[in-house]
Amino acid sequence: MGRQTCHLSIRREAAAHSLSRHYRYGYLVAVANIQTSHGMADGKPGMSLDDVRAVYSGFERKSVSDEIPSRMLAMLRSSMREYVEDDADYSVLETWLKKGAPKAGLDPADAKKTPARVIILNCLRCHARDGGEDIGKRSPFGPDDMTVDYEMMRPLLPADMKPGMVSMRIGPQYSMPRLILVSHIHMLSIPMFTLVVGLLFSMTRWPAKWLNWLTPLPMIALVFDFGGWWLARLGDVFVLFIVGAGGVFGVVFAVQIVAILVDLWRPSRRIMDF
Ligand code: HEC
Repeated sequence: MGRQTCHLSIRREAAAHSLSRHYRYGYLVAVANIQTSHGMADGKPGMSLDDVRAVYSGFERKSVSDEIPSRMLAMLRSSMREYVEDDADYSVLETWLKKGAPKAGLDPADAKKTPARVIILNCLRCHARDGGEDIGKRSPFGPDDMTVDYEMMRPLLPADMKPGMVSMRIGPQYSMPRLILVSHIHMLSIPMFTLVVGLLFSMTRWPAKWLNWLTPLPMIALVFDFGGWWLARLGDVFVLFIVGAGGVFGVVFAVQIVAILVDLWRPSRRIMDF
């Protein structure tokens, strides 16, 4: 009997061990993913409050005075930002536009990534004249989805832009359908692993006072975080919900994982029994 209990507890500890290890790495990958997918949302590298604003609520940004304003640049940084998956693509196109979009720089033969190629890859599926999209007829960047035409883009390029544009609106980059999709995916998955980690945490031998406080906290933070995604569209202040609740979730969830791991390494009375 004693041996069986011991086996059970060892097996349970092994399972808890591999689960918490899994979550620890998953957690780090998730943090890296936030950096790479949203770090450039506001047009500047690195995560900041403006990145969160750009994705969920939208915000006004003053155009930088030493830059030549262009409709293409303003759109690239705002509502078209979400179509450029790769940050390297984004900076190639942005740099070219900031420099005044010289014709010679559109597709230089010696460069691996050129603005023209970035446009073919990211923009022409909607902005090709004969592609069948309305916007392709209104603002074409080329005749078909393989060809970029400088003359067609000219009205949107810096050279033709009147100075005096002082600010531009960035975001919200998550359109309604996208926000619904992202909510659907995250609201179904995150609470599940939060629950598993929470349950493991509640089974540890830390003081009851800690367990009572810390076990439900990540779940409560999620309610505010998810709520913030939607409310941010109504008011900028709710962006602080996302950041605040996200921070609380991140810290407490990490504490739970570490607490589970530490508890597993503490000598078990059950195992010592036999
Ligand atoms: C999924 C389709 C789609 C893709 C991909 C796309 N756009 Fe657009 N674009 C649109 C639509 C629709 C509009 C018009 C709505 C609006 O103004 O927001 C538009 C408008 C624009 C405008 C303003 C045009 C005008 O006449 O004022 C610019 C500039 C622009 N896009 C640039 C880009 C760039 C640069 C890319 C590639 C990085 C890109 N777009 C990718 C759909 C797309």
